[in-house]
Amino acid sequence: MRPFRSSESIVELGLSLALVLGAACRGSAHFDPEPKPIVPKRGMVVCEHELAAAVGVDVLERGGNAIDAAVATALALAVVLPEAGNLGGGGFAVVALRDGSTRALDFRETTPSGASLAQYLDGDGRPIPELTRRTPLAVGVPGSPAGLHELERELGSKRFSFAELVAPAIALAERGFPIDARLARDLSGEELRAALIADPDAAAAFYPQGRALVEGDILRQPALARTLRELAEGGPDAFYRGRAGAAIVEKLSRGEHPSAMSRDDLASYAPKWREPLVGWFRGYELVTMPPPSSGGLILLQSLNVLDGFPLDSRRAAVIAEERAAPTGAMDPLGLDDRIVHWWIETLRRAFVERALHVGDPDFVDVPIERLAGAEWTARARISIGETASNEFASLLTEDSEGSETTHVSVLDARGNAVSLTTTLNSSYGSRLFAAGFLLNDELDDFAFAGAANQYGLVGSSANALAPGKRPLSTMTPTIVRQSDGSVVLVIGSPGGPRIVTSVLGVMLRVLAFGEPLDAAVRAPRVHQQAAPAESSFEPGWSPRLLDGLERRGHALRRDVTPWGSVQAIHVGRDGEPIGASDPRRPGAALSTRVKR
Ligand code: DON
Repeated sequence: MRPFRSSESIVELGLSLALVLGAACRGSAHFDPEPKPIVPKRGMVVCEHELAAAVGVDVLERGGNAIDAAVATALALAVVLPEAGNLGGGGFAVVALRDGSTRALDFRETTPSGASLAQYLDGDGRPIPELTRRTPLAVGVPGSPAGLHELERELGSKRFSFAELVAPAIALAERGFPIDARLARDLSGEELRAALIADPDAAAAFYPQGRALVEGDILRQPALARTLRELAEGGPDAFYRGRAGAAIVEKLSRGEHPSAMSRDDLASYAPKWREPLVGWFRGYELVTMPPPSSGGLILLQSLNVLDGFPLDSRRAAVIAEERAAPTGAMDPLGLDDRIVHWWIETLRRAFVERALHVGDPDFVDVPIERLAGAEWTARARISIGETASNEFASLLTEDSEGSETTHVSVLDARGNAVSLTTTLNSSYGSRLFAAGFLLNDELDDFAFAGAANQYGLVGSSANALAPGKRPLSTMTPTIVRQSDGSVVLVIGSPGGPRIVTSVLGVMLRVLAFGEPLDAAVRAPRVHQQAAPAESSFEPGWSPRLLDGLERRGHALRRDVTPWGSVQAIHVGRDGEPIGASDPRRPGAALSTRVKR
């Protein structure tokens, strides 16, 4: 296996092309250098299901803080969004408190202590991708039950007990709720049916009398209600050391590819408080998730690089050109192929570093300060020339050593905010069901030599599977604040590697291009992850802009199915929060009724 090229040499590849672009002309800032503190006029919850958002808003209205509401909403999502909301998965939460402090909680799944890399390889030492998708070997020790409990224990208002925050989820699981078209469509699929029907609790809930529930049918989940009740009454110990833990271990010990997950692995699971990553863009402070998610780091790297390009003057020139000789094909924000070229090339460079250097910080030294620092930023920016650096893809794939997620954004009227993303990894996770819920397939987020994961991501030994290790994520829960600490944006999304590109796109549109939040969330997205070389474009980009990118040597996948599901809150200077739940999927942005 050939060693990696150093990242410095990769960015230097483009040095000779850096004649025109550079750090010289910075765009003008849209921020107020001496902002007045913003206190939100009301609380708000944005997520992918109206019933779960209503649970969070009710907690806020009864005097709970943003943390209480986020925990209750996430638990409700475990019921109403069985394909993504979860007890059997894990996630991350970023918190900004009114007193100015910030926190980041890592409740990512861990690799069983008895697991070994050899279990995932064939006789010739090549990875077998199926093993990390639909078998017991795919499953990491779930983090959500302990994580949500820890969030409340440490930062909750204490106006509610943890049990009171679990209660609405128990009620939803017991009484049931009408399922939507999306869940009904999934349940009618043969593969999911075969997987779920194998478990008596799943069969009874989703396929009563053998018939798949259809849109509008009531989904009742008594087995999930029982597990939630045990969690409410006995806390995480009741889950990890109790009946649910035993059921998970028993389920994963079966079949052709049994997992080594033990009762001890579950009993010793612990969420971890980490130092949030902090950066600046256009005078705003960004507070985001550090490794083992790569999302926050990619976001900061990208915004650092883009901040040095003359985005504003370029947009002004594009708009003036269109006024002088109208073509009717201009992007409404004045974006042209040159600006989107900078955007794509920036992502390419950040994703290369992800693949080379980023993994669980408890196992590898992640050079965060270097990657988010001035020298890396300058080198990356200078290396971006006028044409596509498609060569990055082959560097990664040749040398590589080798949906489903959901997001909750919450703001309370005191100005506390929570940005929380949880995942089972792919849709319906491993499709293995125990104690009333689905188990994740998160171990597919590790990098196996010579093989891309289900999102086409490749990586290095920094993200190789090891006992106790957390697989690298791209989840990007983020909070943006004014310099005085007032929250102006709470944002996150599902979408695998497209999470960070979705969040970046919305942030650029809102913070740099001045677009209203709902338009920015609706706007077409672009994705680039270094390998493959091609960039994906949702429908809606101007054909002229895409043609311009092709002339710069970019390989494009046009009009691909939309992705991501951004759940965001923007707070205006008047303190009025505006929520946007991505129209790409069902969801709701609900605010408290009473103004302060
Ligand atoms: O942690 C990660 O980056 C992935 N497991 C997230 C997967 C995902 O977002 C799929 N959902 N749409």
